Amino acid sequence: MTEPPPPLGVYVHWPYCARICPYCDFNVFKAKGREAEAAELAAAIVADLEAQRAITGPRELVSVFFGGGTPSLMDPAWAGEIVAAARRLWTPAADLEVSLEANPTDAEAARFAALADAGVNRLSLGLQSLDDAALRFLGRNHDAAEGRRAAQTAARVFPRLSLDLIYARPGQTPAAWADELRAAVDLGPEHLSPYQLTIEAGTAFDRAVRRGLFVPPGDEAGADLYETTQAMLEAEGFEAYEVSNHARGAAARSRHNLVYWRGWDYVGAGPGAHGRITTGGARLATEAADRPADYIRGVHETGAGFESREALSPVQAAEERLLSGLRVREGVAFGEVAALGLSARHPTVRGLVNLGLLADDAERLIASPAGRRVLDSVTAELALAEP
Ligand SMILES: C[S@@+](CC[C@H](N)C(=O)[O-])C[C@H]1O[C@@H](n2cnc3c(N)ncnc32)[C@H](O)[C@@H]1O
Ligand code: SF4
Repeated sequence: MTEPPPPLGVYVHWPYCARICPYCDFNVFKAKGREAEAAELAAAIVADLEAQRAITGPRELVSVFFGGGTPSLMDPAWAGEIVAAARRLWTPAADLEVSLEANPTDAEAARFAALADAGVNRLSLGLQSLDDAALRFLGRNHDAAEGRRAAQTAARVFPRLSLDLIYARPGQTPAAWADELRAAVDLGPEHLSPYQLTIEAGTAFDRAVRRGLFVPPGDEAGADLYETTQAMLEAEGFEAYEVSNHARGAAARSRHNLVYWRGWDYVGAGPGAHGRITTGGARLATEAADRPADYIRGVHETGAGFESREALSPVQAAEERLLSGLRVREGVAFGEVAALGLSARHPTVRGLVNLGLLADDAERLIASPAGRRVLDSVTAELALAEP
């Protein structure tokens, strides 16, 4: 008997931003002057979803995620059309999650109600900081008061609210960070994603660090701030269900992220979007063109928006499953990474268990809290282990 295909998530990439932040290396473009292109892009995304339905076949739809870029800049009517298309093409779960990433400016908060009417039921708000000097350093186009107002509006309008924060900023002390986190908790989110600032190659921050304009915290200071995050949020009732994601109870976890971390399928639509679709016994990896104009042309010429589509080998698929599965508290079953030849008795697994980096579990590979702190080395060691 063949297994039923896994549930499906839909990722929609909206690449436009009012201003490009100096630390960001996502696939983003300045919104100004691209209004006509944006309207064409919304229509192309609907057409792309229709074309990819032919590949996925019928599925249960558990999540639609509008990421960016800045999807809160999008006309709510377009968001509504994309949600309606996804609901029509697949079978929506009773508790379908529809998330959207928003920047916390007054102008965007004024559109939250319309976005909720369009079907969005979970807002992921990019607060980043509640400190004005830090927001200036991060090059954000909002101050802390505006961020607080947006969070308060969002908490009223959307059933579910998550806040993104960026820590490990130069000179940040654990005490100041704990105060800032507490202030974010007081805004009432059910979910928090505090990310350590990473200096990505090719960004304005990368150039600034090379020129000596600022020095990011070292590994030890970063680890102290990570520990502060874990301890502080646990004390506030937030479970660290993933390395950078904390939820007040299981129902508050991001269902879309769980689609990735459980190795389920997702359709990617929009410029630069990636997808993973299991079909005919293989796991297909899709990737769309980064530039909006190329993506739109691709949809017009070929129907679907992806410019590349390749079947992952069983080892590649298992490596991906390992990488994402170890990020979540529940880990990954040995059976799901069988192509890597790992088992509870494997010498590499035993070694990592003895070091306290993996839980001692006969059925699953589960990173311990200590293991999650050094996850890159743990996954590299497992992926390179002799079968
Ligand atoms: C793609 S952004 C989209 C969110 C939205 N446009 C915003 O800026 O608020 C998603 C999140 O990634 C995080 N992020 C982006 N670049 C980062 C970096 N270099 N270091 C740490 N976090 C980063 C931010 O917290 C941001 O909210
Ligand atoms: S952090 Fe958000 S607003 Fe800033 S450039 Fe990246 S996607 Fe755009």
